[in-house]
Amino acid sequence: MSRKRTAILISGRGSNMTALIEAARDARYPAEIALVLSNRPDAAGLQRAAEAGIATAIVDHKAYGKDRAAFEHALQEVLTAHRIELVCLAGFMRILTAWFVAQWPERMLNIHPALLPAFKGLDTHRRALEAGVREHGATVHFVVPEMDSGPIIARARVPVLPDDTEDALAARVLAMEHRIYPLALKLVASGRVQVADGRCVIAGPCEDEDALFLPGLIKKPR
Ligand code: GRF
Repeated sequence: MSRKRTAILISGRGSNMTALIEAARDARYPAEIALVLSNRPDAAGLQRAAEAGIATAIVDHKAYGKDRAAFEHALQEVLTAHRIELVCLAGFMRILTAWFVAQWPERMLNIHPALLPAFKGLDTHRRALEAGVREHGATVHFVVPEMDSGPIIARARVPVLPDDTEDALAARVLAMEHRIYPLALKLVASGRVQVADGRCVIAGPCEDEDALFLPGLIKKPR
């Protein structure tokens, strides 16, 4: 099977992007990172992507003012020009309209720094500390029009420790993000993830360690 041409959309430092690029260096990995696209010309991740030899593009949302549709059409045009098959949002800080989401049904992934459905939106680590939860984490899910929702592909838990600061907790979560995003993309790109009744079902078998991160049903081959 040919490797799925994947675009990573970023707005910032791109550490998840880097984790995906690293994973895709292996020729057996079922996705190739064909493009890194940023809405911010100053996103640090752009340079990192270019250094890794990956095509980069900028669609600056500011150039479109309040015209979200025009911005998204420009995004879509770049993705089409690069023959992109899968999209990974990785710290992409724009809200997407239902139109754009509909261009990528079960082909657009997002990573969110919380155990969804808890703590949708911003400042997840601060809010987790304020809420006093004992467990926090990260989630990779398919993108649907409602923000930070959609079928969950992979999820990793971390403990919240008594003296945690926002930064310490964020770092612990980020380390797990870098494990589960490459795993989730691998499963989707290899065609092993299906959505049934709004939930992901994964065709097995999975490494025991991977299975830990997959809350969905893992269907063993007969
Ligand atoms: C990550 O915490 C991700 O979960 C969230 O935005 C952050 C992006 O970080 N969506 P990076 O740019 O991947 O380092």
